[in-house]
Order: sequence, then structure tokens, then C-alpha cells
Amino acid sequence: MSGRYERTCVTHGFASEYGNPSSPHICGRTAARAIRTARRQVTDLVGAKNELEIVFTSGATEANHLAVLGAALAVRPHGGHIVTTVIEHKAVLAACQRLVDHHGYTLTRVGVDAHGRVHPADIAAVLNPNTVLVSVMHANNEIGTLQRLAAIAEITAPRGIVLHTDAAQSAGCGLLDVAELGVDLASLSAHKLHGPKGIGALYIRGGTRITAQQAGGGQERGLRAGTPNVPAIVGFGAATHLITTDAVPPPARIRSLRDRLQDRILATIPGTTVNGHPHRRLPGNLSLTLPGIEATDLLDRLPGIAASTGSACNTGSGEPSHVLTAIGLTRDQARATLRLGIGRTTTATDIDQAAHAERFPEARRGGL
Ligand SMILES: Cc1ncc(COP(=O)(O)O)c(C=O)c1O
Repeated sequence: MSGRYERTCVTHGFASEYGNPSSPHICGRTAARAIRTARRQVTDLVGAKNELEIVFTSGATEANHLAVLGAALAVRPHGGHIVTTVIEHKAVLAACQRLVDHHGYTLTRVGVDAHGRVHPADIAAVLNPNTVLVSVMHANNEIGTLQRLAAIAEITAPRGIVLHTDAAQSAGCGLLDVAELGVDLASLSAHKLHGPKGIGALYIRGGTRITAQQAGGGQERGLRAGTPNVPAIVGFGAATHLITTDAVPPPARIRSLRDRLQDRILATIPGTTVNGHPHRRLPGNLSLTLPGIEATDLLDRLPGIAASTGSACNTGSGEPSHVLTAIGLTRDQARATLRLGIGRTTTATDIDQAAHAERFPEARRGGL
């Protein structure tokens, strides 16, 4: 990221401009102005109509909770029905489960095909008169598959059902346009788009009813009590601004690097399979199943490669990823799966080094 971006974050909150945006004095007003700018920048990134549709949160986990619990309970405090998918991030699955455990809700988790795609007809088939919310992630964090949200919105909107999407992974690729997708709520995370960690936002389409999930202050129009994290919000805004003003949009470059890495590994290690949708997936996502290996052992032998075996949030649980098993991988195949991420700063040299055959000794030794 640029020096300008770093200077902006340091100045606001950490150095000279440390005011509380709720304070009426000059320092507070300066902080409030900085937040207004950031809110405008995030509004532009997602294609929202106006700044009032953006509520800052501590990240996508909190945004998902505010969306799922806040929207469902605003419509029906008890006994409603919600629909989600089997491949959601745990933050959505946990928020849905909370509605079941504490608010008498019923929950339907719709399955996906072998590419990780949800079929809109499968969503339509499980709706009932009590359904208040459908939550379908835009892009999956493990296999990158993108969902057909616009087609799902055509099903939910006429029935007055709120449509939420966890867009933590897609917003940074410039793929999120809330108007085009027809979603009512969208969760964002700044660190997924080169912004700071611990900050995110929920897009709330004007007119969508939401019950606040934390009380005790009127910040964020009463929807998220607590003093805003000014430096993180400013950093989030600056990172989104870099994306919307990119002279050369990076997704095409990232996709071509990803394809180069994919082709090199497939040619080097026969039997390797690519997970996720062949075309409709995040440009920087590469999830590979390398038969005959234990991915965690392989990663221990590749300290220079920042890959992972599943969702970073699952790491350490020892359980195979719920996403990989949902697309039909066996437990052994899931354990033999690596996720490589290609980002804005990845170079062709990085790709060539990562793909070098000697770096996959276990797979080669496995006679592949
Ligand atoms: C799809 C998705 N949703 C939610 C989250 C959680 O985001 P945060 O770390 O900002 O709470 C992540 C982070 O890994 C994610 O990939």
C-alpha cells in the first residue's frame, strides 16, 4: 500500500488528530469529518445510494451478527424461519444458530453443487410464509465460488424477504455492487481489501428494518453503540478509495497470475484437482487437492509460502473444512487440500517460485 495510505491512518487517531468524533470541540469535529470521508469512500466501493446505508462495525463477524440477528428479530422477534447455505463462514452459521437456540427460529441450510454453487431454485423450494431472511455469501473464502445473488434476489424481493450477503471476500475485487446484486444487507471486512484489521461495515439498504445488537450509545445512528475506531475507519476508507480509483483494475492481472500458478502445478503434479467453480470464482483464489499428501505437513515444509489448509478461522480445530466436505470431498481429500491466495502485491516471480516442482517434495514422492 502507498505511503499516503499509511500516513493517513497514522495521522488520524494515533498522532495529531486523536479526537472523539462524538465530541463537539474542534478535535472531535475533525475526527467526525474523517469518518464522513471514509463512509463516502465505502459507499462508493459497494455502489450504495448514500452514506447513511453504511454502518461501521469491528469486522465482518460483527456485521454478520448485526445483519442476521438484527434483520430477523426486527421483522419477527420469535418463531420465524431463516435460510442460509452449508458453506457459509462460521460467523453467519453461528448467528443463525443463535436465532434457533434463543429465539425459537427454524433454520434451513441449503446444499451446494460440486463447484460450491447454490441453486436459486433450491432456495425458492425451502421458503415458507414464516421466512424472514435469506443469507447467502457472495464469494466463498475457501474455494472462491461466486453465487448468483441477483437471481436469488428475484426470488426473495417479491416475497418481502430480506436478503443478506457476506461479501467479505468479494468487495476488494471490485465485484460487489449492491444495486446490481439486489441485496438488502452486505457485510464487509477491511483487512480482506488491504485495509486494517478489526474494522468492517454492514451495508443496510435504506428502508430495511434492523434491531441494534449492542446498546449503550447512539453511535452509527443507534445501530452500533460504542466509540468508533477512528484510525481503523480512516484506513478502511483509504483502502477502498485505492480500489475505486485504480488506474488499472487488478483483478485481470491477479486472475492471470492465478491461472499461471494453477497451470504450472497441474502440469507438475498429475492428479491434482482444482476446487471451486472453474470460471465464476474469485480471481485470486486457488484451492487445490493434491492427492497423497497431508496439507499441514506440506505447509510445514514450505515456510516461504503463505498458503493455508482451510479457513484461517478454522485452523487448529483438526476438523476437515465444512466447505470442502460440502462440495463432496472425502475427509482425506479435504486434508490434502491447500489454499493459495494471489493478491495485489503478488508478482510473476512469486508465482514461479511457488510453483517450482522441488517445493512439492511430498507430492512427488507420493508417486504422482
Ligand atoms: C467470508 C468471511 N466472512 C467473515 C469473515 C470474518 O471477518 P472479520 O475477520 O473481519 O471478522 C471472514 C474472514 O476470514 C470471511 O472470509
